[in-house]
Amino acid sequence: MRSGVKWLAVALAGSGLLPAAQAQFYKIGTKEEIKESARTLAYDLMLFYKGNQTGEIPGILPGPPTEHKGDYYWWEGGAMMGTYIDYWHLTGDTSYNEVVKQGMLHQTGPNHDYMPPNHTASLGNDDQGFWGMSAMLAAENKFPDPPEDQAQWLALAQAVFNTQAHPDRHDNTCNGGLRWQVPPTNMGYNYKNTIANACLFNLGARLARYTRNTTYADWAVKQWDWIWNVGYIEPEEYRVYDGAHVEANCTDLNKAQFSYNAALMLHGSAFMYNYTDGAEPWKTRISGLIQGMKRDFFFDGIAYELPCEGRHGACTADMLSFKGYVHRWLSVVTQIAPFTRDEILPMLRTSAEAAVKQCTGGATGRRCGFYWSEGVFVDPAVDKTSGAGEQMNVLAAVSSLLIDDANPPATELTGGTSKGDPNAGSRSRDGPEPPPPITTGDRAGAAILTILLLASSVGAWSWMSLGD
Ligand SMILES: *[C@@H]1O[C@H](CO)[C@@H](O)[C@H](O)[C@H]1NC(C)=O
Ligand SMILES: *[C@@H]1O[C@H](CO)[C@@H](O)[C@H](O)[C@H]1NC(C)=O
Ligand SMILES: *[C@@H]1O[C@H](CO)[C@@H](O)[C@H](O)[C@H]1NC(C)=O
Ligand SMILES: *[C@@H]1O[C@H](CO)[C@@H](O)[C@H](O)[C@H]1NC(C)=O
Ligand SMILES: *[C@@H]1O[C@H](CO)[C@@H](O)[C@H](O)[C@H]1NC(C)=O
Repeated sequence: MRSGVKWLAVALAGSGLLPAAQAQFYKIGTKEEIKESARTLAYDLMLFYKGNQTGEIPGILPGPPTEHKGDYYWWEGGAMMGTYIDYWHLTGDTSYNEVVKQGMLHQTGPNHDYMPPNHTASLGNDDQGFWGMSAMLAAENKFPDPPEDQAQWLALAQAVFNTQAHPDRHDNTCNGGLRWQVPPTNMGYNYKNTIANACLFNLGARLARYTRNTTYADWAVKQWDWIWNVGYIEPEEYRVYDGAHVEANCTDLNKAQFSYNAALMLHGSAFMYNYTDGAEPWKTRISGLIQGMKRDFFFDGIAYELPCEGRHGACTADMLSFKGYVHRWLSVVTQIAPFTRDEILPMLRTSAEAAVKQCTGGATGRRCGFYWSEGVFVDPAVDKTSGAGEQMNVLAAVSSLLIDDANPPATELTGGTSKGDPNAGSRSRDGPEPPPPITTGDRAGAAILTILLLASSVGAWSWMSLGD
């Protein structure tokens, strides 16, 4: 019923019976225009963030949905912090640095490993991993270091790595690999997925390049091999699948292809390529993943979220933020694996042009939607979305156009200043802090993918029709 109404609205908009679309607001023709557009996009994204207001919690976007506090899970705040760390790096605009530093430090948790007790009920390895990758990015971008008496960016990334590499996160089901959730009581603990394992792969590769400690590189290799051998990457065409369950020894493959899985494997592979000074097998893997991404996630060169975008309202708030990571990660790939540059940059340009074209919504006439390929703004009332992810995507796409003028990710040998601690995170190896009492609502709220997706291990798309 509701979907019928949606399609009617779309049809009316297309037929010209609704008011004509507003004129395009954002211009990205010149570097100055790109910076000016990014500045406004960054300002508008901050309007979704309440974390620096009195009485609010720094670092998070309004949420979690399970407590009826907003649309966003904990991890997306960490992803947003990373987006602003790149925004500053690419544009030089320091306006949000204090807000970002405050949020990044508030969410570390008591052991400075991004396992804050408030979020145990939805603590996935991927959720922790996204915060860890934002800390790693802060070290690579030489984001201003925290005061000395506080946790440092590199040590925070190492803490996340150490907790995830520890034997207590690994078992013999499916021949190894990380589970999705950390606490055994969480819904989704029986799922071993690509994103959780890709986060550890990615952190290992980046820590290896940054510190040149081979332990990290060994872990990156181990993570790639596990993901590959369990069949989560289809070896001929590099389709990157979502995950499978331990009860089936990970043979009940959920073949949903989300863009961030492929992009994160590509980004990590580029760090390994650079760390090994351009060696195989990384070059072949990079090329395979790029071809796969072009085919599956860039329709006519425009970013497209394959599993859900074909139907308005089918992408969850999580999924509505993936395009931004794709743009940010692919742009960095061009810096550290320069042979990819001529193939990737024109695609990111075409995609960014489509992205800004549809930012014509709301009272300001510049609100962004999600459907870049459609070329028109789709109202959130039609689409069930609320906007931080959509805004973050376009900010990422536009600011990443400046990648050629930005420094490549630093290392200890090329000016990185962040202080590390190889043993960071070890105090929490006995497991996460005791959780607050878990309600049924909390359990249902586990992180990045919805339980609806998990529940349908066969016929992966039955969930799409739910809620219509
Ligand atoms: C929160 O941060 C934004 C962006 O820097 C700033 O404009 C705003 O004034 C801050 N609000 C408070 C209450 O500090
Ligand atoms: C945990 O929740 C409490 C109560 O809402 C809040 O004061 C605190 O800032 C939160 N801590 C984190 C790390 O989010
Ligand atoms: C589980 O799958 C792995 C391959 O991922 C295989 O090597 C192993 O033998 C399987 N174990 C069982 C019990 O079937
Ligand atoms: C590694 O990255 C640097 C940029 O930090 C780049 O100049 C260099 O060419 C890269 N190495 C290879 C083998 O591509
Ligand atoms: C390298 O990293 C491992 C894993 O964190 C750590 O145990 C070891 O002490 C590190 N080595 C050096 C020389 O820092």
